[in-house]
Amino acid sequence: MEKWAGKDLFQGYGMTPLLEVQDLHVSYGAASGKSGVALAGVSLRLLAGETLGVLGESGSGKSTLAAALLRILPANGIVECGAVRFDGRELLQCDAREMEKIRGGRMALIFQEPSQALHPALRVRQQVCDVLAAHTDLSRAALRERTGRVLAAVFPTETERIARSYPHELSGGQRARVLIAQAICCEPALIVADEPTASLDAETQMEILQLFRRLREEFKLALIWITHNPALLAGFADRVMILYAGRVAEVGPTAEVLFSPRHPYTQALLRCLPPGLGKGYVGRKTKLAVIPGVAPVTLRDAGRCVFEARCSDRMDACVSGEPELVCVAGKQFVSCVKYAG
Ligand SMILES: Nc1ncnc2c1ncn2[C@@H]1O[C@H](COP(=O)(O)OP(=O)(O)OP(=O)(O)O)[C@@H](O)[C@H]1O
Ligand SMILES: [Mg+2]
Repeated sequence: MEKWAGKDLFQGYGMTPLLEVQDLHVSYGAASGKSGVALAGVSLRLLAGETLGVLGESGSGKSTLAAALLRILPANGIVECGAVRFDGRELLQCDAREMEKIRGGRMALIFQEPSQALHPALRVRQQVCDVLAAHTDLSRAALRERTGRVLAAVFPTETERIARSYPHELSGGQRARVLIAQAICCEPALIVADEPTASLDAETQMEILQLFRRLREEFKLALIWITHNPALLAGFADRVMILYAGRVAEVGPTAEVLFSPRHPYTQALLRCLPPGLGKGYVGRKTKLAVIPGVAPVTLRDAGRCVFEARCSDRMDACVSGEPELVCVAGKQFVSCVKYAG
């Protein structure tokens, strides 16, 4: 069985990845002196223009991954080891000034909570213009002109009214669009979007996805799209990565992961969905399932499969070491002893 080991995933593509994360370990220090592990050996690769969906239950480490990529972990967050190569640079070695240029420039983040990410006392136009001013040396007139263009791309109607509004005068969907305008204004190569549509109704979520489809084409954007909702990824993401307890449980092309999941955790997660997503695993049952037990406290070296205690396919080999990601089909990789060796 082919091992992933962070090397083989793109052999056939013949392209240098835009982003390459290798064996990333992140922990959070606590006042007690004990640190909690949030990511334990995450590796991923992303090509220019590609969309990777990241799925996982609450606490699986999705936001930590986003924050670690952009080097905005809170003060108690520690990158213990790993490498983050982006656009030909090793981000973990960049100094604060270099990171300020990259952040919001070549790589942008859309935060999990739009209402907390905007300045309450600045008009929308100003907030987008400030991001542009920080990353370019455009004249005032050019800044205003480019801000107008970006806002028009994100708000094709009512552009001027929204540009003059304060965040509290906007709906949740409109605030999410302002964050998108801030993220795209410097034409980044990569946007990391941390559940940007989580607080929106289904129709507005679809509108935002539609907007991203258009922007992806226009700006040749790569996207890391973090979500709890697999339905949002079908037909939108090129690949999906499933995180469980700070580890990659499964990664592969979207259709394979969502409709032919191999890891027992992915299978269980998709069974918890309401019916109607489509064919295959998702939506096959009418009665909603739940995954028994709770996600474990994340450990550095669990010494066993971290999903073992909740797994319906548990076997003796599950406790004899942590399974590595192995290729199960094409470009679908799974970390489960069922597929090892
Ligand atoms: N500042 C912090 N200090 C200590 N522990 C933290 C901190 N931030 C996150 N954690 C812990 O790290 C783990 C991963 O958290 P993270 O926010 O990355 O999860 P998530 O997958 O984004 O969850 P959600 O879906 O709820 O947003 C959790 O156990 C969380 O409690
Ligand atoms: Mg989160």
